[in-house]
Amino acid sequence: MSTTDIKQVVKERYGQAALRVKNGGSSCCGASPRVGRGCDPITSNLYDAAQGEQVPEEAMLASLGCGNPTALAHLNAGEVVLDLGSGGGIDVLLSAKRVGPTGKAYGLDMTDEMLALANENKRKAGAENVEFLRGEIEHIPLPDNSVDVIISNCVINLSADKGQVLREAFRVLKPGGRFAVSDVVTRGEISPAIRQSVLLWVGCVAGALEDVEYRDKLAAAGFEQIDIEPMRIYRAEDARELLYAEGIDVPILEAGMQGRYNVLFLCTGNSARSIMAEAILNFKGRPNFTAYSAGSHTTGAVRREALGQLEVARVPTQGLRSKSWHEFSQSNSPKLDFVFTVCDNAAKEVCPVWPGQPMTAHWGAADPAAVRGSKEDVERAFRDAFFILDRRISLFLCIPFKTLDSLALKKELDNIAQTMTPVTNDR
Ligand SMILES: C[S@@+](CC[C@H](N)C(=O)[O-])C[C@H]1O[C@@H](n2cnc3c(N)ncnc32)[C@H](O)[C@@H]1O
Repeated sequence: MSTTDIKQVVKERYGQAALRVKNGGSSCCGASPRVGRGCDPITSNLYDAAQGEQVPEEAMLASLGCGNPTALAHLNAGEVVLDLGSGGGIDVLLSAKRVGPTGKAYGLDMTDEMLALANENKRKAGAENVEFLRGEIEHIPLPDNSVDVIISNCVINLSADKGQVLREAFRVLKPGGRFAVSDVVTRGEISPAIRQSVLLWVGCVAGALEDVEYRDKLAAAGFEQIDIEPMRIYRAEDARELLYAEGIDVPILEAGMQGRYNVLFLCTGNSARSIMAEAILNFKGRPNFTAYSAGSHTTGAVRREALGQLEVARVPTQGLRSKSWHEFSQSNSPKLDFVFTVCDNAAKEVCPVWPGQPMTAHWGAADPAAVRGSKEDVERAFRDAFFILDRRISLFLCIPFKTLDSLALKKELDNIAQTMTPVTNDR
């Protein structure tokens, strides 16, 4: 599909959605949703009741986003906010309340019917610090350095030239400006069947970038301190109905996705060892492995020395943060294939035990964060931990996963722990 074709299809679909809302229906093609609820698992339950009360019902009914960017962005009174692809205006109206009468909220959209709906919602809301602009997010009709915060909700995915959108966003942001966007990203290959589906493109799925690609494009546009925070994680089965309706064979799709493995590195503080392991595996194992890390008693901060070791090895460190293991036991958490504990039993550290199905192994390593002594001693301990983890992860990536049964695989994983004895710090 050419860029012009995509724009035309997107305009038609969203134009129809706007007209349905205007005529007293919902933005969905099927049954009417309740207020505050979207049409499908992606657009459902994005806003809380308090937010629902701040905007006209039609704005809520027209909500077609996949997140809540106003919850991600910190907005101050007097700031200028721009919403890329503002639709019925829900995020613009919510932002306008937060920046107050001394601030301003712009919405930009290319679909006339959506702009008409948004202006009607603005009138109903009595919002005076709001302006809806007609135009394309690839060519933002605002001057350079004129916006404090850009938000967007499930729109950049729809563009066939995401790099151009991000460059434009960077251009209009003031120095130090912020960019808080909800979008769909994919993990793993998207099959040609999905890529070719117009409906899935319009639904933000077929045009979605891989998480790493999104990050790379943001960096190329000039953005710094990039952080991607998973709000909801969907697997093929979540989209089963939608995919079947499009004639896509879900079992085949799922089989194609089986090359993807989710790995959690677990220790106590999640400040050093597990953090380094997460970053190393994400770097060396992509696109087939996605790594996470967590702690049972998090320190809440990542050790500077751990980041230093990663930077020396040119392993990306963006977005690393100390996380509780509770984050990974929620119903919408990623389904884990492997959990590796990296705490040091030999040093009498109590290792958390992960319940459930994933394959587990213990890859104990001495805790560099526990080392007291000179700066050199501490640096050496972090370097040792990095090398052990890096070596083990390299061995892990050599395992012929598809040819081993689970017993043989478990043996391989346990062997990895023994190939290198954790270095002790009493040297
Ligand atoms: C998925 S809806 C999201 C609307 C709104 N952000 C929300 O959360 O309800 C996508 C909106 O982006 C607009 N849009 C899509 N591509 C665009 C582009 N290239 N330039 C401007 N607007 C675009 C569509 O017209 C539509 O209103």
